[in-house]
Amino acid sequence: MRRPVFAANWKLNIGPSVAREYMAAFLAACEPRPDRSLAFFPPALTLAAMRDLLSPRPDVLLGVQNISVEEKGAFTGENSAPIARDAGAGLVLVGHSERRRLFGETDEETAAKCAIALHHRLIPILCVGETLHEREAGRTEEVVGRQLSVGVGRLGLDEVACVLVAYEPVWAIGTGRNATPADASHIHGVIRQTLTDRIGARGREITILYGGSVTRHNAGPLLAARDVDGLLVGGASLEPDGWAEICNT
Ligand code: PGA
Repeated sequence: MRRPVFAANWKLNIGPSVAREYMAAFLAACEPRPDRSLAFFPPALTLAAMRDLLSPRPDVLLGVQNISVEEKGAFTGENSAPIARDAGAGLVLVGHSERRRLFGETDEETAAKCAIALHHRLIPILCVGETLHEREAGRTEEVVGRQLSVGVGRLGLDEVACVLVAYEPVWAIGTGRNATPADASHIHGVIRQTLTDRIGARGREITILYGGSVTRHNAGPLLAARDVDGLLVGGASLEPDGWAEICNT
């Protein structure tokens, strides 16, 4: 049974002191529950503060928003998988559309990042999704299928079974225009089929999140859709009470 995952992607928002106020409010409104998983992806410089704030709440997971394809060395400004792990992260976002679009991340780099993450016991959430242009050209399944297949392409079957996938249509991110539950469900089904083709029945256990303009109004219907196992949320996760309300959906 897949349990719903509620993941907050703070992007380049919320430093350590604001995180302190935020978590006080959020944790009071969001009790530990066995039927869901909670995760935060703060900026890397906020990670240490978050680890301390969450020490009484081991049910809440922490992740980083990106890692380098390099393990260590002369790569000024980068964060590595082993350092993220050492700093308290258990998860990492790989191939978020902002990394792809603004920083030129390629499918091959997402493959390298998934492999290096798992090597250092970080669970990757591989983000996939089509642009508006690709959607209008009827290429959604082709684009998502390619991002997924290449992204997990360097992993062994046991490793693929550890990955989470987030379907985030680029046209829905931060735009106020979410995929309908039916559309999300359809693409999640395609993603699941690709995974089961690759690793068999274990593909049915893989958690597939939806992301893109999730709000407290659409969270319930999206989560109720078949094959939507959780939510990856940017804007609506920046305010603790609203985010707690979504996590309590
Ligand atoms: P949004 O962002 O919820 O603000 O649309 C989602 C994401 O980028 O992960």
